[in-house]
Amino acid sequence: MDVIALESLGYEYEDGHAALRDVNLKVKEGERVALVGPNGAGKSTLMHILAGLFIPSRGKVSIMGAALSKKDVAAARKHVGLLFQDPDDQIFMPTVREDVAFGPMNLGLSKEEVESRVERAMGLTSISSYRDRAPHHLSLGEKKRVAMAGLLAMSPSILLLDEPTANLDPQSRRELVNILDSRRETILIATHDMSAAFHLADRIVVLKNAVLYDGEIPGLLRDPGILQEARLELPSFSRLMQSWAAETGKRFEPPATVEEALDILRHNYCCRGQGDGHSH
Ligand SMILES: Nc1ncnc2c1ncn2[C@@H]1O[C@H](COP(=O)(O)OP(=O)(O)O)[C@@H](O)[C@H]1O
Ligand SMILES: [Mg+2]
Repeated sequence: MDVIALESLGYEYEDGHAALRDVNLKVKEGERVALVGPNGAGKSTLMHILAGLFIPSRGKVSIMGAALSKKDVAAARKHVGLLFQDPDDQIFMPTVREDVAFGPMNLGLSKEEVESRVERAMGLTSISSYRDRAPHHLSLGEKKRVAMAGLLAMSPSILLLDEPTANLDPQSRRELVNILDSRRETILIATHDMSAAFHLADRIVVLKNAVLYDGEIPGLLRDPGILQEARLELPSFSRLMQSWAAETGKRFEPPATVEEALDILRHNYCCRGQGDGHSH
């Protein structure tokens, strides 16, 4: 089933600025899609529309098979959870624990269920130790974890994540990627972090106010024109391998992950059968 369907979607801000033009996008249940593109591409705008926070100027939006209209945005919000690009837009309660509990409490769940969801979400995002601190005193990266915990505690079936790894330290970033990797929800992640996008997503949508590319990772890696137009940069290991291919004349697909890069090295250059214990 398509849990998200956008048809000829357009969005203009009040000043007339066209943020989105003729966007068509379908996302299936359980799919993980990375939304990439330069600053100002309309990624955050798109996520606000999907979360029922902005009403599109034209086109159709369906969430879980139901057309999104002004009167049933509440229904869509039950299924969709948005992690805002700026956590200050999301967290507002006096303590971290209360903030994570705010959403589930408003779902009308029992006290025990709220408690167990809050504890689980705080554990997953490693914020249990600052449960009594004021969210507005935390660092940006810490705030992002609090916002992520609040989102997970709501258990939405569609996670919309707006630049979730930006401003996280490397360890926190890896932890977040691992958390997301273990989830079963449908995930749409807007990011400039191509390494995280390639790790998590099966499908990449390149947005620059309109959709420039929608497909699998290898097709995008082979298309330097689109990458350049969208001001995207491949992960450093990928660029290294491309330069190496150009220098040696060897032909191989540019790698999307460190593991793929390692496999290319094993196959092409040395150490056949060494290192990882399996032969090629
Ligand atoms: N409130 C607003 N009024 C007018 N233009 C806006 C407003 N908010 C965002 N924009 C513009 O819409 C475009 C898309 O913004 P945004 O969705 O935030 O892009 P992204 O998240 O991809 O960086 C940008 O050119 C931005 O300047
Ligand atoms: Mg944005």
